[in-house]
Formats: sequence, C-alpha cells, structure tokens
Amino acid sequence: MSGAMFNHEPVMLNEILEVFSGLSTGTFLDATLGGAGHASALLKAHPDIEFLGIDRDHEAVAFSKSKLSSLGERVTLRHARFDRVAEVLVQTGTHSLAGALFDLGVSSPQLDQEQRGFSYRLDAPLDMRMDQSQSMSALEVINDSSIEHLEKILRENADERFAGRIAKAIVRARPINTTVELAEVVIAAIPAAARRRGGHPAKRTFQAIRIEVNQELVILPNALTDVIKALSPGARLAVLSYHSGEDSIAKSVMRLAETGGCTCPTNLPCVCGRQALVRRVRTVKTPSVAEQTLNRRSTAARLRVVERLSTGWES
Ligand SMILES: C[S@@+](CC[C@H](N)C(=O)[O-])C[C@H]1O[C@@H](n2cnc3c(N)ncnc32)[C@H](O)[C@@H]1O
Repeated sequence: MSGAMFNHEPVMLNEILEVFSGLSTGTFLDATLGGAGHASALLKAHPDIEFLGIDRDHEAVAFSKSKLSSLGERVTLRHARFDRVAEVLVQTGTHSLAGALFDLGVSSPQLDQEQRGFSYRLDAPLDMRMDQSQSMSALEVINDSSIEHLEKILRENADERFAGRIAKAIVRARPINTTVELAEVVIAAIPAAARRRGGHPAKRTFQAIRIEVNQELVILPNALTDVIKALSPGARLAVLSYHSGEDSIAKSVMRLAETGGCTCPTNLPCVCGRQALVRRVRTVKTPSVAEQTLNRRSTAARLRVVERLSTGWES
C-alpha cells in the first residue's frame, strides 16, 4: 500500500453500521475520513452507495486513497476542512446526502507519530497541526498567547481546574519548544496531590492546546448545520465525540434542528412557523465495555444521531 501507514481502529463500528443499516443508494459523506476504517466497512456493507470522504490531514487522505483505490469511481476523497463541506458538495456535484458521519478528534497516527508533536509522552517540537499545510502550530499558541488567552483555552477546551496556574507557569517558562518541556512545566505547576489523580497531569493541557491549534470547536457548529441541511429526507447524521466541548456542540446543533428554532410554548399552537428539520434517533450512546477494554481510545466516545425529516428551515 502506498503512502505512510495511517491505521486507526474505528470506534463503535458495529453501532455505526447499525445506524446506517437502511442506506441503499445515494452519496454518503465521511467528514473525518482518518484511516478509512468506518469508510471501508460502510462501503462493504452498502455496495450501491457513492462515497465522499474528507479529512484535513494530507496523510489520512493519501492513505485512504490507496486503501480504497480498488473501489474506483464510487469513492471521491478530498483534502478539506469539514467547515468547507458546502463547497466540497458543490465542487463534486453532490446535491444531497444519503447519510453522514463525523468521527471527531484525532486519528491514532496523529498521536503516535512522534514528529507530529501531539503527545506529551513523545519528545518532539511542539506542533499539533492536523493539517500540515496550516501555518499556526502549538509552538505559536504556547509562546505567543497572553496569560489570559492561555487560561481561557485551558478552561474552555479541557475544563482544566488549574488553568490559571498552568497559564502563568507557561508564560514564565517561555520559550517552550518541545512537547516534553511543556509537559514538565505543566506537571510542576499542578499541586503535588492533584498530580497523582486523573491520568497524566498534562493530558488536559495538551487537549486544550490541540483544540486551539486546530480551531476544533469554532469550526464544528456550522459544519454540522451545513451537513444537516444537505441530508435527504430519511438520511441520518451520526456524530461521535470524545470530550464534553464537542458533545455539547453536537447536542445543541441537533437540538436546534429538532425544533427548527421554534420557541413557542409547548402547550400552545406554534405561531412562529419554524419547522423541525430532524428527529432524534435513539441509539446506544457509548462503546461497550468490551470495546473500551480492547481500545482504550474509545473510552470517552459518545454517539448522537439525527434523521432528516421532509420539512425544513430556510436560511
Ligand atoms: C477519529 S479520526 C477518524 C477515524 C476514522 N473514522 C476511521 O475509521 O479511520 C478523526 C479524523 O478527523 C480529521 N479531522 C478532524 N477535524 C477535522 C476537520 N475540521 N475537517 C476535516 N477533518 C478533520 C482528523 O484529521 C482525523 O484524521
């Protein structure tokens, strides 16, 4: 297989196949292609669907192109950020979607390849860019942000209890060039008793900085909204999220689509005319214990699914 290996164990694969078991024809969008784990299984289970896959990581796209090459014209893959999905749909002549999947967060190779600079366990220059052609990296976020901005990032992106202390310690220790230097600064900034609880003390800081570098939470709401609008009646959107920030965005975008923005009192007839765009699909929300044991990266996963109705909002 050409291209660097980019293997990622797909999370909640059986549950995702179940959610999309009704697919027959049309174009399915995988907005977070990664190592094409979900993609391969969906393509195998549904031989008549067309497949559009995007990822902001060049290596993920190159690897998936090679992995799915035998499927020919059924598969279209693009290097793109999912907030550009409306453009990608126009460019590829896709008028509506038969289903869509967002499997958020990072792929395993992004964390495991030392030179990508995502991991507090592997010593490398600070980087954390999912898209290697983007200019801003973790180096700039760590070394150029104000204390206030760092504190905000740590609090909002990772619920870090010691956000203020860590932000001050980072600014005092600058310049910080590598992952291990950053991890050491964070460890030293946290009270000794807290260092022994709740996993690696630098885990939250690394999550928060990665989310800032890749603008993950900023990009997500519009991308989900655009995809919901592009679904055909009866088509489903599944979102797998891995932390509370992502999950609460998925929940609020889906909730807005469920009401269409109608805020009329539920005990009175609707007078605003806004209509529901989707219905919530009840499904298993978290990976099985067996999956969590086999794949510890699945532990935090949370699945939300909606299905498009034939009504809709205009905007
Ligand atoms: C959890 S992995 C997906 C794994 C995939 N489902 C599989 O089975 O191999 C998430 C992927 O989404 C990509 N990604 C994250 N945010 C993105 C965005 N805003 N636009 C496009 N791709 C994104 C990452 O580069 C990463 O490869």
